[in-house]
Amino acid sequence: MTTRMPTPLPIRDRPVRLMIVGLGQVSELVVTTYVGREDVEIVGLCDRDPARVQRWAEVFPKARTTADLDEMLTWEADVVDVLVPTPAHGTVATKVLTAGFHVQLQKPIARSLEETDEILAAAAASGAQLRILEDYLFFPPIVKLKEVVDSGEIGRPVGVHMKLVGTGAGGWDVPMSTWQWQFEQTKDGRGMLVFDHGWHQLAVARWLFGPVTKIFAWTSLTEIVPGIALDAPSTLVWEHENGVRAVLEILLAPETYFRSDWYTGDERIEVTGTKGYVRCNRISAFGVQEPSVEVYHDGEIRAFHALDDLLPAGFVGSTEHGLAFFRGEVDEPVLSGAASREVLVMLMAALESAQIGRPIELSGG
Ligand SMILES: NC(=O)c1ccc[n+]([C@@H]2O[C@H](COP(=O)([O-])OP(=O)(O)OC[C@H]3O[C@@H](n4cnc5c(N)ncnc54)[C@H](O)[C@@H]3O)[C@@H](O)[C@H]2O)c1
Repeated sequence: MTTRMPTPLPIRDRPVRLMIVGLGQVSELVVTTYVGREDVEIVGLCDRDPARVQRWAEVFPKARTTADLDEMLTWEADVVDVLVPTPAHGTVATKVLTAGFHVQLQKPIARSLEETDEILAAAAASGAQLRILEDYLFFPPIVKLKEVVDSGEIGRPVGVHMKLVGTGAGGWDVPMSTWQWQFEQTKDGRGMLVFDHGWHQLAVARWLFGPVTKIFAWTSLTEIVPGIALDAPSTLVWEHENGVRAVLEILLAPETYFRSDWYTGDERIEVTGTKGYVRCNRISAFGVQEPSVEVYHDGEIRAFHALDDLLPAGFVGSTEHGLAFFRGEVDEPVLSGAASREVLVMLMAALESAQIGRPIELSGG
């Protein structure tokens, strides 16, 4: 394949020309953020499934369409969104970067550190920028939680408790083909809750409190139907270089209904400080009707009732940031390839610690 020069950045005088490979479930949250924007032009759409290409071709009639990634990479564009299943991130992202396109890649960056290093090397060799899409860092209630922590309102942070309960009912229908690669990944030791979802929580923890020095995971599998298991109950414990102690508790509540128009599940993040706490009460699901963020100190609770606290808001914020990055208005791609590698180091160490039954020390980098 001919290697083009990546488009020089910043792109200031015209819309960013974007192509997308992988138009499955998550495209409903990512690709929707481009609809109606004048600063981005969707010029290419690619999926092996023609029905999925057709779904988005109707929304972006000017885009060229194909089932063949190699064909799409012969077209002119600036950035390619890679929204294929995680097991394919290594091969697909490496190919797209090598072909000379800036890449926005879904989380987790890859299934292993070896594949991550191949992706990073391909970006370095072609000079293309790599951005990992991590919507949690742009979800307004989590952004507010960070603002409260950074303001000193709850004192010095000492701990964080994160909770993820896989509720059995509620949320949108996810096709069997999407579950299929997740179940295969689970057999490979990378379960849907600890690996695929725990990535979000570890990314948030790193963003809030910086490097981690030690991590331990106690993981289990629960069979939900014969031959198919989810990786819960699982508990991850870690400590940041700044002394903040963290727990991520992952549980299954198969008979619980939790209202959501997207993914469901009871998710909470509570940061305890020396003077009080700040809590984010929901992320993926509407859950129960309570303010999405609450702050407690000095005998009083302050609650935020007017945040944009529906799941798509994080994807909208991520797109805003990505386009600002390609226009040269912000310096960091968030998440950068290097930052994403640090998250994966934490995650892989957690999985390894579960195997050997003791904590893993990290260099803190
Ligand atoms: N940020 C989030 O909250 C979030 C949520 C869901 C999924 N994700 C991530 O998004 C990625 C995709 O997940 P999904 O749920 O949309 O999966 P999916 O299985 O629903 O969709 C993937 C699509 O990629 C297509 N595809 C695969 N290989 C291809 C190739 N070589 N060429 C062209 N098309 C190809 C498939 O046909 C399918 O339509 C995963 O990495 C997942 O972890 C992130």
